[in-house]
Amino acid sequence: MSTEAPFRNNLLRRLPVEETIGPRQGGRHRLSLVYGTRDLVVLGLGVMIGSGIFNIAGQEAATTAGPAVILSFVIAGAACLLSALSYAELSSTMPVAGSAYSFTYVAFGEIWAWVIGWALILELQLAAAVVSRAWSLYAMRLVDDVGTLAGIAWIKVPSALSGIAGRPTGLDVFALALLLLLAVIVAIGARLSLYTLWFMVLTKVIVIGFVIGGGLLYFHSSNLRPFVPPPRTAAAGDGRTVLDALMGGSPHAFGLVGIFTATSAIAFAYIGFDLIATSAEETKDAQRRVPRGMLISLLIAIALYIGVAVAMVGMVPYRTLNPDTPLTSAFHAVGSSAMGVVIDVGAVIGLATVVLVVMIAQTRVLFAMARDGLMPATLAVISPRYKVPTRAAVLVGATGIVLSQVDVWTFGKVSILALQQMIVIGTLFAFIFVSAGVLALRRSRPDLPRGFRVWGAPLTPLLAIAATGWLLLNLHLRTWVYFGAWMTAGLLVYLVYGRRHSRLRQVLGGRPVHPQGRHRR
Ligand code: ALA
Repeated sequence: MSTEAPFRNNLLRRLPVEETIGPRQGGRHRLSLVYGTRDLVVLGLGVMIGSGIFNIAGQEAATTAGPAVILSFVIAGAACLLSALSYAELSSTMPVAGSAYSFTYVAFGEIWAWVIGWALILELQLAAAVVSRAWSLYAMRLVDDVGTLAGIAWIKVPSALSGIAGRPTGLDVFALALLLLLAVIVAIGARLSLYTLWFMVLTKVIVIGFVIGGGLLYFHSSNLRPFVPPPRTAAAGDGRTVLDALMGGSPHAFGLVGIFTATSAIAFAYIGFDLIATSAEETKDAQRRVPRGMLISLLIAIALYIGVAVAMVGMVPYRTLNPDTPLTSAFHAVGSSAMGVVIDVGAVIGLATVVLVVMIAQTRVLFAMARDGLMPATLAVISPRYKVPTRAAVLVGATGIVLSQVDVWTFGKVSILALQQMIVIGTLFAFIFVSAGVLALRRSRPDLPRGFRVWGAPLTPLLAIAATGWLLLNLHLRTWVYFGAWMTAGLLVYLVYGRRHSRLRQVLGGRPVHPQGRHRR
Protein backbone atom coordinates (compact mmCIF):
# COMPACT_ATOMS: atom_id res chain seq x y z
CA MET A 1 0.00 0.00 0.00
CA SER A 2 1.24 3.49 -0.72
CA THR A 3 1.31 5.41 2.56
CA GLU A 4 1.57 8.69 0.74
CA ALA A 5 -1.48 8.60 -1.49
CA PRO A 6 -4.19 8.77 1.19
CA PHE A 7 -2.66 11.89 2.71
CA ARG A 8 -2.07 13.96 -0.43
CA ASN A 9 -3.26 17.49 0.20
CA ASN A 10 -5.27 17.98 -2.96
CA LEU A 11 -8.80 17.29 -4.15
CA LEU A 12 -8.09 13.55 -4.13
CA ARG A 13 -6.96 13.58 -0.50
CA ARG A 14 -8.37 10.48 1.15
CA LEU A 15 -9.86 10.15 4.62
CA PRO A 16 -7.68 7.75 6.66
CA VAL A 17 -9.75 4.65 7.25
CA GLU A 18 -8.94 4.73 10.98
CA GLU A 19 -11.08 7.89 11.23
CA THR A 20 -14.12 5.82 10.35
CA ILE A 21 -13.62 2.75 12.46
CA GLY A 22 -14.86 3.52 15.96
CA PRO A 23 -14.33 5.28 19.26
CA ARG A 24 -12.05 2.68 20.73
CA GLN A 25 -9.82 2.76 17.69
CA GLY A 26 -9.57 6.55 17.78
CA GLY A 27 -12.45 7.35 15.44
CA ARG A 28 -15.01 10.09 15.89
CA HIS A 29 -18.27 8.35 16.67
CA ARG A 30 -20.57 10.38 18.86
CA LEU A 31 -24.07 9.11 18.13
CA SER A 32 -25.84 6.82 20.62
CA LEU A 33 -25.99 3.06 19.94
CA VAL A 34 -29.66 2.23 19.48
CA TYR A 35 -30.09 -0.36 16.72
CA GLY A 36 -29.91 -4.16 16.78
CA THR A 37 -30.23 -6.49 13.76
CA ARG A 38 -34.03 -6.62 13.95
CA ASP A 39 -34.25 -2.83 14.12
CA LEU A 40 -32.13 -2.63 10.98
CA VAL A 41 -34.42 -5.06 9.17
CA VAL A 42 -37.38 -2.90 10.22
CA LEU A 43 -35.56 0.24 9.02
CA GLY A 44 -34.85 -1.45 5.69
CA LEU A 45 -38.43 -2.63 5.18
CA GLY A 46 -39.65 0.75 6.41
CA VAL A 47 -37.91 2.52 3.58
CA MET A 48 -37.90 -0.08 0.80
CA ILE A 49 -41.57 -0.94 0.79
CA GLY A 50 -43.35 2.23 -0.22
CA SER A 51 -45.07 3.64 -3.24
CA GLY A 52 -43.17 1.03 -5.28
CA ILE A 53 -45.14 -1.89 -3.92
CA PHE A 54 -48.51 -0.30 -4.47
CA ASN A 55 -47.87 1.18 -7.91
CA ILE A 56 -44.78 0.09 -9.78
CA ALA A 57 -45.62 -3.57 -10.49
CA GLY A 58 -48.97 -2.60 -12.02
CA GLN A 59 -47.65 0.44 -13.89
CA GLU A 60 -44.79 -1.48 -15.45
CA ALA A 61 -47.01 -4.48 -16.25
CA ALA A 62 -49.57 -2.26 -17.96
CA THR A 63 -47.15 -0.08 -19.92
CA THR A 64 -43.79 -1.81 -20.37
CA ALA A 65 -43.43 -5.50 -19.56
CA GLY A 66 -46.82 -7.24 -19.27
CA PRO A 67 -46.93 -10.31 -16.97
CA ALA A 68 -43.15 -10.66 -17.47
CA VAL A 69 -42.87 -7.79 -14.98
CA ILE A 70 -42.35 -10.66 -12.52
CA LEU A 71 -39.00 -11.30 -14.26
CA SER A 72 -38.20 -7.59 -14.16
CA PHE A 73 -38.59 -7.70 -10.36
CA VAL A 74 -36.30 -10.73 -10.18
CA ILE A 75 -33.64 -9.06 -12.37
CA ALA A 76 -33.80 -5.69 -10.56
CA GLY A 77 -33.72 -7.55 -7.23
CA ALA A 78 -30.63 -9.51 -8.30
CA ALA A 79 -28.89 -6.30 -9.46
CA CYS A 80 -29.64 -4.63 -6.12
CA LEU A 81 -28.52 -7.73 -4.22
CA LEU A 82 -25.14 -7.59 -5.97
CA SER A 83 -24.73 -3.97 -4.87
CA ALA A 84 -26.00 -4.78 -1.38
CA LEU A 85 -23.14 -7.27 -0.96
CA SER A 86 -20.67 -4.46 -1.62
CA TYR A 87 -22.49 -2.16 0.82
CA ALA A 88 -22.40 -4.98 3.36
CA GLU A 89 -18.62 -5.38 3.04
CA LEU A 90 -17.82 -1.68 3.28
CA SER A 91 -20.20 -0.98 6.14
CA SER A 92 -18.73 -3.92 8.04
CA THR A 93 -15.29 -2.40 7.49
CA MET A 94 -16.25 1.23 8.15
CA PRO A 95 -19.46 1.50 10.19
CA VAL A 96 -20.03 5.23 9.72
CA ALA A 97 -23.07 7.48 9.34
CA GLY A 98 -21.96 8.78 5.95
CA SER A 99 -22.34 5.37 4.20
CA ALA A 100 -21.43 5.59 0.49
CA TYR A 101 -20.15 9.14 0.97
CA SER A 102 -17.65 8.10 3.66
CA PHE A 103 -16.67 4.87 1.85
CA THR A 104 -15.85 6.93 -1.23
CA TYR A 105 -13.86 9.44 0.85
CA VAL A 106 -11.66 6.61 2.08
CA ALA A 107 -11.41 4.72 -1.22
CA PHE A 108 -11.20 7.47 -3.84
CA GLY A 109 -10.68 10.83 -2.16
CA GLU A 110 -12.50 14.01 -1.27
CA ILE A 111 -13.83 15.25 -4.58
CA TRP A 112 -15.44 11.89 -5.40
CA ALA A 113 -16.81 11.72 -1.87
CA TRP A 114 -18.40 15.09 -2.44
CA VAL A 115 -19.91 13.89 -5.71
CA ILE A 116 -21.49 10.91 -3.95
CA GLY A 117 -22.57 12.98 -0.92
CA TRP A 118 -24.22 15.44 -3.31
CA ALA A 119 -25.92 12.58 -5.19
CA LEU A 120 -27.19 11.15 -1.88
CA ILE A 121 -28.60 14.55 -0.93
CA LEU A 122 -30.50 14.52 -4.22
CA GLU A 123 -31.76 10.97 -3.63
CA LEU A 124 -32.89 11.54 -0.09
CA GLN A 125 -34.33 15.05 -0.24
CA LEU A 126 -36.24 14.28 -3.41
CA ALA A 127 -37.46 10.95 -2.05
CA ALA A 128 -38.89 12.68 1.04
CA ALA A 129 -40.69 15.23 -1.14
CA VAL A 130 -41.92 12.83 -3.84
CA VAL A 131 -43.13 10.13 -1.43
CA SER A 132 -44.86 12.69 0.83
CA ARG A 133 -46.85 13.86 -2.21
CA ALA A 134 -47.78 10.28 -3.09
CA TRP A 135 -48.75 9.79 0.58
CA SER A 136 -51.08 12.75 0.37
CA LEU A 137 -52.91 11.23 -2.62
CA TYR A 138 -53.52 8.00 -0.68
CA ALA A 139 -54.49 9.83 2.52
CA MET A 140 -57.14 11.78 0.66
CA ARG A 141 -58.47 8.66 -1.00
CA LEU A 142 -58.51 6.71 2.27
CA VAL A 143 -60.81 9.23 3.93
CA ASP A 144 -63.23 9.19 1.00
CA ASP A 145 -63.13 5.38 0.59
CA VAL A 146 -63.84 4.81 4.30
CA GLY A 147 -66.82 7.17 4.07
CA THR A 148 -68.15 5.43 0.96
CA LEU A 149 -67.64 1.91 2.32
CA ALA A 150 -69.25 2.74 5.66
CA GLY A 151 -72.04 4.61 3.90
CA ILE A 152 -71.49 7.62 6.16
CA ALA A 153 -71.83 10.82 4.18
CA TRP A 154 -69.98 13.08 6.61
CA ILE A 155 -66.77 10.99 6.43
CA LYS A 156 -65.10 12.79 3.54
CA VAL A 157 -62.35 15.30 2.98
CA PRO A 158 -63.76 18.77 3.79
CA SER A 159 -64.35 20.77 0.64
CA ALA A 160 -62.05 23.52 2.01
CA LEU A 161 -59.15 21.04 1.69
CA SER A 162 -59.98 19.61 -1.72
CA GLY A 163 -58.15 22.34 -3.64
CA ILE A 164 -55.04 22.30 -1.45
CA ALA A 165 -54.41 18.64 -0.59
CA GLY A 166 -54.21 15.19 -2.13
CA ARG A 167 -53.32 16.50 -5.58
CA PRO A 168 -50.47 15.54 -7.89
CA THR A 169 -49.68 19.21 -8.53
CA GLY A 170 -50.08 22.54 -6.74
CA LEU A 171 -50.06 23.33 -3.04
CA ASP A 172 -50.43 20.27 -0.83
CA VAL A 173 -50.99 20.84 2.87
CA PHE A 174 -51.20 17.09 3.65
CA ALA A 175 -47.65 16.53 2.36
CA LEU A 176 -46.51 19.61 4.22
CA ALA A 177 -48.09 18.46 7.49
CA LEU A 178 -46.58 14.97 7.17
CA LEU A 179 -43.08 16.35 6.58
CA LEU A 180 -43.45 18.73 9.51
CA LEU A 181 -44.55 15.97 11.88
CA LEU A 182 -41.81 13.57 10.79
CA ALA A 183 -39.13 16.27 10.96
CA VAL A 184 -40.08 16.83 14.61
CA ILE A 185 -39.89 13.07 15.29
CA VAL A 186 -36.45 12.83 13.64
CA ALA A 187 -35.21 15.96 15.42
CA ILE A 188 -36.09 14.73 18.89
CA GLY A 189 -34.37 11.39 18.76
CA ALA A 190 -33.85 8.01 17.20
CA ARG A 191 -35.58 6.03 19.97
CA LEU A 192 -38.94 7.62 19.36
CA SER A 193 -38.51 7.18 15.61
CA LEU A 194 -37.71 3.52 16.15
CA TYR A 195 -40.82 2.72 18.22
CA THR A 196 -42.98 4.53 15.68
CA LEU A 197 -41.30 2.64 12.89
CA TRP A 198 -41.73 -0.83 14.38
CA PHE A 199 -45.48 -0.31 14.71
CA MET A 200 -45.86 1.11 11.21
CA VAL A 201 -43.70 -1.47 9.44
CA LEU A 202 -45.51 -4.38 11.09
CA THR A 203 -48.86 -2.95 10.00
CA LYS A 204 -47.59 -2.43 6.46
CA VAL A 205 -46.23 -5.98 6.16
CA ILE A 206 -49.55 -7.40 7.43
CA VAL A 207 -51.42 -5.38 4.79
CA ILE A 208 -49.08 -6.64 2.08
CA GLY A 209 -49.68 -10.19 3.31
CA PHE A 210 -53.43 -9.56 2.82
CA VAL A 211 -52.81 -8.13 -0.65
CA ILE A 212 -50.75 -11.15 -1.74
CA GLY A 213 -53.11 -13.68 -0.14
CA GLY A 214 -56.22 -11.86 -1.40
CA GLY A 215 -54.79 -11.52 -4.90
CA LEU A 216 -53.79 -15.18 -5.13
CA LEU A 217 -57.39 -16.19 -4.36
CA TYR A 218 -58.30 -14.74 -7.75
CA PHE A 219 -55.24 -16.08 -9.58
CA HIS A 220 -55.90 -17.42 -13.10
CA SER A 221 -52.96 -18.70 -15.09
CA SER A 222 -54.70 -17.54 -18.29
CA ASN A 223 -54.02 -13.95 -17.16
CA LEU A 224 -50.31 -14.65 -17.52
CA ARG A 225 -50.67 -15.34 -21.25
CA PRO A 226 -48.89 -14.04 -23.24
CA PHE A 227 -46.22 -13.90 -20.57
CA VAL A 228 -43.98 -11.74 -22.79
CA PRO A 229 -46.31 -9.62 -24.96
CA PRO A 230 -45.04 -8.82 -28.49
CA PRO A 231 -42.81 -5.73 -28.68
CA ARG A 232 -44.17 -2.43 -29.88
CA THR A 233 -43.09 1.20 -30.05
CA ALA A 234 -44.01 2.98 -26.83
CA ALA A 235 -46.67 5.67 -26.70
CA ALA A 236 -45.50 9.21 -27.45
CA GLY A 237 -44.38 11.02 -24.32
CA ASP A 238 -42.97 7.88 -22.67
CA GLY A 239 -39.53 9.45 -22.95
CA ARG A 240 -36.39 8.15 -24.61
CA THR A 241 -33.86 6.37 -22.49
CA VAL A 242 -30.12 6.71 -22.96
CA LEU A 243 -30.14 3.26 -24.52
CA ASP A 244 -32.85 4.29 -27.02
CA ALA A 245 -30.75 7.31 -27.96
CA LEU A 246 -27.57 5.23 -28.32
CA MET A 247 -29.40 2.75 -30.54
CA GLY A 248 -30.85 5.63 -32.51
CA GLY A 249 -34.43 4.47 -32.03
CA SER A 250 -37.65 5.43 -30.34
CA PRO A 251 -38.74 4.02 -26.97
CA HIS A 252 -39.80 0.40 -26.92
CA ALA A 253 -42.29 -1.41 -24.76
CA PHE A 254 -42.98 -5.12 -24.13
CA GLY A 255 -41.01 -7.94 -25.73
CA LEU A 256 -37.70 -8.96 -24.18
CA VAL A 257 -36.52 -5.32 -24.25
CA GLY A 258 -39.55 -4.31 -22.16
CA ILE A 259 -38.53 -6.71 -19.39
CA PHE A 260 -35.19 -4.95 -19.07
CA THR A 261 -36.54 -1.43 -19.56
CA ALA A 262 -38.92 -1.99 -16.64
CA THR A 263 -36.03 -2.92 -14.34
CA SER A 264 -34.83 0.70 -14.05
CA ALA A 265 -38.21 1.95 -12.85
CA ILE A 266 -38.39 -1.05 -10.54
CA ALA A 267 -35.01 -0.13 -9.02
CA PHE A 268 -36.94 2.69 -7.29
CA ALA A 269 -38.94 0.05 -5.45
CA TYR A 270 -35.82 -1.52 -3.95
CA ILE A 271 -34.14 1.75 -3.02
CA GLY A 272 -33.63 1.89 0.69
CA PHE A 273 -31.47 -1.11 1.58
CA ASP A 274 -28.49 1.20 1.03
CA LEU A 275 -29.80 3.56 3.70
CA ILE A 276 -29.31 0.93 6.40
CA ALA A 277 -25.60 1.66 6.12
CA THR A 278 -26.24 5.25 7.32
CA SER A 279 -27.36 3.75 10.65
CA ALA A 280 -24.10 1.87 11.17
CA GLU A 281 -22.74 4.41 13.64
CA GLU A 282 -25.81 3.91 15.83
CA THR A 283 -25.71 0.10 15.72
CA LYS A 284 -24.25 -2.18 18.39
CA ASP A 285 -21.69 -4.59 16.92
CA ALA A 286 -22.21 -2.89 13.55
CA GLN A 287 -19.52 -4.93 11.79
CA ARG A 288 -21.71 -8.01 11.95
CA ARG A 289 -25.20 -6.60 12.34
CA VAL A 290 -25.30 -4.06 9.51
CA PRO A 291 -24.49 -6.59 6.74
CA ARG A 292 -26.98 -9.03 8.24
CA GLY A 293 -29.76 -6.45 8.62
CA MET A 294 -29.20 -5.13 5.11
CA LEU A 295 -29.21 -8.48 3.34
CA ILE A 296 -32.14 -9.92 5.34
CA SER A 297 -34.33 -6.89 4.72
CA LEU A 298 -33.50 -6.83 1.00
CA LEU A 299 -34.32 -10.53 0.63
CA ILE A 300 -37.65 -10.05 2.44
CA ALA A 301 -38.43 -7.03 0.25
CA ILE A 302 -37.60 -8.95 -2.94
CA ALA A 303 -39.95 -11.77 -1.84
CA LEU A 304 -42.77 -9.33 -1.00
CA TYR A 305 -42.40 -7.39 -4.25
CA ILE A 306 -42.40 -10.56 -6.35
CA GLY A 307 -45.40 -11.81 -4.35
CA VAL A 308 -47.36 -8.63 -5.08
CA ALA A 309 -46.33 -8.71 -8.77
CA VAL A 310 -47.48 -12.35 -9.15
CA ALA A 311 -50.76 -11.62 -7.36
CA MET A 312 -51.45 -8.54 -9.46
CA VAL A 313 -50.79 -9.92 -12.94
CA GLY A 314 -52.48 -13.20 -12.00
CA MET A 315 -55.72 -11.47 -10.98
CA VAL A 316 -56.61 -9.66 -14.21
CA PRO A 317 -55.21 -9.37 -17.77
CA TYR A 318 -52.37 -6.83 -17.68
CA ARG A 319 -54.11 -4.69 -20.36
CA THR A 320 -56.97 -3.91 -17.99
CA LEU A 321 -54.78 -2.57 -15.16
CA ASN A 322 -55.18 1.15 -14.53
CA PRO A 323 -51.56 2.44 -14.34
CA ASP A 324 -52.56 5.18 -11.86
CA THR A 325 -54.17 2.86 -9.30
CA PRO A 326 -53.21 -0.65 -10.46
CA LEU A 327 -53.73 -2.67 -7.28
CA THR A 328 -57.03 -1.05 -6.40
CA SER A 329 -58.26 -1.39 -9.98
CA ALA A 330 -57.31 -5.09 -10.05
CA PHE A 331 -59.22 -5.83 -6.84
CA HIS A 332 -62.13 -3.74 -8.07
CA ALA A 333 -62.21 -5.77 -11.30
CA VAL A 334 -62.51 -9.05 -9.41
CA GLY A 335 -65.30 -7.63 -7.24
CA SER A 336 -63.25 -7.16 -4.08
CA SER A 337 -63.54 -3.37 -3.73
CA ALA A 338 -63.14 -3.46 0.07
CA MET A 339 -59.49 -4.37 -0.52
CA GLY A 340 -59.13 -0.82 -1.85
CA VAL A 341 -59.47 0.49 1.70
CA VAL A 342 -56.96 -2.06 3.02
CA ILE A 343 -54.51 -0.94 0.32
CA ASP A 344 -55.08 2.72 1.19
CA VAL A 345 -54.38 1.99 4.88
CA GLY A 346 -51.20 0.11 3.95
CA ALA A 347 -50.10 2.90 1.63
CA VAL A 348 -50.78 5.68 4.13
CA ILE A 349 -48.77 3.89 6.81
CA GLY A 350 -46.21 2.45 4.41
CA LEU A 351 -45.36 5.66 2.62
CA ALA A 352 -45.06 7.56 5.90
CA THR A 353 -42.31 5.15 7.04
CA VAL A 354 -40.45 5.68 3.76
CA VAL A 355 -40.43 9.43 4.38
CA LEU A 356 -39.40 8.92 8.00
CA VAL A 357 -36.41 6.71 7.17
CA VAL A 358 -35.15 8.82 4.27
CA MET A 359 -35.27 11.84 6.58
CA ILE A 360 -33.27 9.99 9.24
CA ALA A 361 -30.74 8.89 6.59
CA GLN A 362 -30.46 12.36 5.09
CA THR A 363 -29.80 13.82 8.53
CA ARG A 364 -26.97 11.31 9.08
CA VAL A 365 -25.38 11.99 5.68
CA LEU A 366 -25.42 15.75 6.30
CA PHE A 367 -24.03 15.13 9.78
CA ALA A 368 -21.14 13.08 8.33
CA MET A 369 -20.37 15.66 5.63
CA ALA A 370 -20.47 18.49 8.18
CA ARG A 371 -18.20 16.54 10.52
CA ASP A 372 -15.69 16.41 7.67
CA GLY A 373 -16.06 20.16 7.13
CA LEU A 374 -17.65 19.80 3.69
CA MET A 375 -20.94 21.19 5.01
CA PRO A 376 -21.36 23.90 7.69
CA ALA A 377 -20.15 22.62 11.08
CA THR A 378 -23.45 23.49 12.76
CA LEU A 379 -25.02 20.47 11.03
CA ALA A 380 -22.64 18.17 12.90
CA VAL A 381 -23.74 19.43 16.31
CA ILE A 382 -25.40 16.69 18.37
CA SER A 383 -28.16 18.05 20.58
CA PRO A 384 -27.14 17.37 24.22
CA ARG A 385 -30.82 16.83 25.03
CA TYR A 386 -31.91 14.55 22.19
CA LYS A 387 -28.53 12.97 21.29
CA VAL A 388 -29.15 13.38 17.54
CA PRO A 389 -28.07 16.01 15.00
CA THR A 390 -31.17 18.11 15.60
CA ARG A 391 -30.10 21.07 13.47
CA ALA A 392 -29.45 18.82 10.48
CA ALA A 393 -32.91 17.30 10.99
CA VAL A 394 -34.51 20.75 11.00
CA LEU A 395 -32.76 21.62 7.73
CA VAL A 396 -33.84 18.31 6.16
CA GLY A 397 -37.45 18.91 7.20
CA ALA A 398 -37.49 22.50 5.95
CA THR A 399 -35.91 21.58 2.59
CA GLY A 400 -38.32 18.67 2.19
CA ILE A 401 -41.28 20.97 2.76
CA VAL A 402 -40.03 23.50 0.19
CA LEU A 403 -39.28 20.74 -2.37
CA SER A 404 -42.62 19.03 -1.85
CA GLN A 405 -44.30 22.19 -3.09
CA VAL A 406 -41.89 22.67 -5.99
CA ASP A 407 -44.50 23.16 -8.69
CA VAL A 408 -46.05 25.94 -6.61
CA TRP A 409 -42.74 27.82 -6.75
CA THR A 410 -42.22 27.01 -10.45
CA PHE A 411 -45.80 28.01 -11.38
CA GLY A 412 -46.67 24.42 -12.26
CA LYS A 413 -43.79 24.02 -14.76
CA VAL A 414 -42.06 21.21 -12.84
CA SER A 415 -44.05 18.52 -11.04
CA ILE A 416 -42.18 16.91 -8.20
CA LEU A 417 -43.78 13.54 -9.02
CA ALA A 418 -42.11 13.66 -12.44
CA LEU A 419 -38.71 13.75 -10.73
CA GLN A 420 -38.90 10.18 -9.43
CA GLN A 421 -36.12 8.96 -11.76
CA MET A 422 -33.81 11.58 -10.27
CA ILE A 423 -33.98 9.62 -7.03
CA VAL A 424 -32.95 6.47 -8.90
CA ILE A 425 -30.03 8.05 -10.75
CA GLY A 426 -28.51 9.51 -7.56
CA THR A 427 -28.77 6.14 -5.85
CA LEU A 428 -27.34 4.14 -8.75
CA PHE A 429 -24.33 6.43 -8.88
CA ALA A 430 -23.64 5.64 -5.25
CA PHE A 431 -24.02 1.89 -5.97
CA ILE A 432 -21.28 2.05 -8.60
CA PHE A 433 -18.86 3.86 -6.31
CA VAL A 434 -19.50 1.45 -3.45
CA SER A 435 -18.80 -1.64 -5.59
CA ALA A 436 -15.70 0.01 -7.05
CA GLY A 437 -14.72 0.92 -3.48
CA VAL A 438 -14.73 -2.75 -2.48
CA LEU A 439 -12.27 -3.51 -5.29
CA ALA A 440 -10.08 -0.49 -4.48
CA LEU A 441 -9.88 -1.22 -0.75
CA ARG A 442 -9.24 -4.93 -1.25
CA ARG A 443 -6.14 -3.85 -3.17
CA SER A 444 -4.99 -0.89 -1.09
CA ARG A 445 -5.95 -2.14 2.40
CA PRO A 446 -6.16 -5.94 2.39
CA ASP A 447 -5.17 -5.80 6.05
CA LEU A 448 -8.39 -4.15 7.28
CA PRO A 449 -10.67 -6.31 9.45
CA ARG A 450 -13.87 -7.03 7.49
CA GLY A 451 -16.94 -8.30 9.35
CA PHE A 452 -18.35 -9.40 5.98
CA ARG A 453 -16.59 -10.16 2.71
CA VAL A 454 -18.32 -10.13 -0.67
CA TRP A 455 -18.36 -13.66 -2.03
CA GLY A 456 -16.62 -14.21 -5.34
CA ALA A 457 -14.76 -10.88 -5.49
CA PRO A 458 -13.61 -9.34 -7.77
CA LEU A 459 -16.27 -10.90 -10.06
CA THR A 460 -19.28 -10.02 -7.87
CA PRO A 461 -18.49 -6.28 -7.48
CA LEU A 462 -17.68 -6.14 -11.22
CA LEU A 463 -21.06 -7.73 -12.00
CA ALA A 464 -22.70 -5.22 -9.63
CA ILE A 465 -21.06 -2.36 -11.55
CA ALA A 466 -22.16 -3.79 -14.89
CA ALA A 467 -25.76 -4.38 -13.70
CA THR A 468 -26.00 -0.89 -12.22
CA GLY A 469 -24.53 0.60 -15.40
CA TRP A 470 -27.25 -1.20 -17.36
CA LEU A 471 -29.96 0.26 -15.12
CA LEU A 472 -28.43 3.72 -15.60
CA LEU A 473 -28.58 3.34 -19.40
CA ASN A 474 -32.29 2.59 -19.12
CA LEU A 475 -33.06 5.90 -17.42
CA HIS A 476 -34.58 8.73 -19.42
CA LEU A 477 -32.28 11.13 -21.24
CA ARG A 478 -33.90 14.08 -19.50
CA THR A 479 -33.09 12.51 -16.13
CA TRP A 480 -29.43 12.55 -17.14
CA VAL A 481 -29.67 16.19 -18.20
CA TYR A 482 -31.23 17.23 -14.86
CA PHE A 483 -28.68 15.11 -13.00
CA GLY A 484 -25.83 16.78 -14.92
CA ALA A 485 -27.16 20.19 -13.91
CA TRP A 486 -27.44 19.12 -10.24
CA MET A 487 -23.90 17.74 -10.25
CA THR A 488 -22.48 20.88 -11.89
CA ALA A 489 -24.13 22.98 -9.19
CA GLY A 490 -22.67 20.61 -6.60
CA LEU A 491 -19.14 20.95 -7.93
CA LEU A 492 -19.44 24.73 -7.72
CA VAL A 493 -20.59 24.48 -4.10
CA TYR A 494 -17.62 22.22 -3.39
CA LEU A 495 -15.12 24.58 -4.99
CA VAL A 496 -16.54 27.62 -3.23
CA TYR A 497 -17.22 26.06 0.19
CA GLY A 498 -16.30 22.40 0.81
CA ARG A 499 -12.77 22.46 -0.57
CA ARG A 500 -11.81 25.42 1.60
CA HIS A 501 -13.47 24.22 4.79
CA SER A 502 -12.48 20.56 4.51
CA ARG A 503 -11.36 19.30 7.89
CA LEU A 504 -8.90 16.96 6.22
CA ARG A 505 -7.35 19.88 4.39
CA GLN A 506 -6.86 21.69 7.69
CA VAL A 507 -5.29 18.61 9.25
CA LEU A 508 -2.96 18.04 6.31
CA GLY A 509 -2.09 21.72 6.29
CA GLY A 510 -1.12 21.45 9.97
CA ARG A 511 -3.87 23.78 11.16
CA PRO A 512 -5.75 22.96 14.39
CA VAL A 513 -9.40 22.06 13.97
CA HIS A 514 -12.34 22.19 16.27
CA PRO A 515 -13.47 18.70 17.32
CA GLN A 516 -16.78 19.18 15.52
CA GLY A 517 -15.09 20.27 12.37
CA ARG A 518 -15.29 24.05 12.94
CA HIS A 519 -11.94 25.62 12.12
CA ARG A 520 -10.21 27.96 14.49
CA ARG A 521 -8.51 30.68 12.53
N1 ALA B 1 -38.43 2.02 -2.25
C1 ALA B 1 -39.18 3.14 -1.87
C2 ALA B 1 -40.56 3.12 -2.42
O1 ALA B 1 -40.91 2.20 -3.11
C3 ALA B 1 -38.46 4.41 -2.21
O2 ALA B 1 -41.32 4.03 -2.15
